[in-house]
Amino acid sequence: MTDQPHGPSLRAAGLAALVTGGAAGIGAAVVRLLHQEGARVHVADVDQDAYVRTIPLGRRGAPHEVARAALYLASGESAYVTGTNLVVDGGIAAGRQAT
Ligand SMILES: NC(=O)c1ccc[n+]([C@@H]2O[C@H](COP(=O)([O-])OP(=O)(O)OC[C@H]3O[C@@H](n4cnc5c(N)ncnc54)[C@H](O)[C@@H]3O)[C@@H](O)[C@H]2O)c1
Repeated sequence: MTDQPHGPSLRAAGLAALVTGGAAGIGAAVVRLLHQEGARVHVADVDQDAYVRTIPLGRRGAPHEVARAALYLASGESAYVTGTNLVVDGGIAAGRQAT
């Protein structure tokens, strides 16, 4: 996998990855690379403070924040919303794209 000057190659599109020790160092670099390649990346780390620092909003999401997004999608309020993903992650995915 190499840097792509015109965006991600998406060679890992559709794949899910679990990166242990992904909050810092080599693990964090692997997380960014897998994300750039299109994978859905889950991070596990024993250092919870380090993990939280990787979240652009600086905190974990609360269950009700995810529930509200699901409620919106299930309600008539989203009747004209089609074919999109609603990302509820405190900016993690956007932050990884920017780095
Ligand atoms: N940085 C290098 O140049 C280099 C070179 C060769 C080998 N290594 C080895 O690679 C490994 C990672 O290096 P690094 O520089 O990224 O270290 P790092 O300390 O920057 O990051 C390691 C991360 O792993 C997490 N972690 C530790 N134990 C864990 C566990 N049991 N489960 C989940 N997460 C855990 C830590 O909390 C930390 O966030 C180390 O074993 C290091 O010795 C590093």
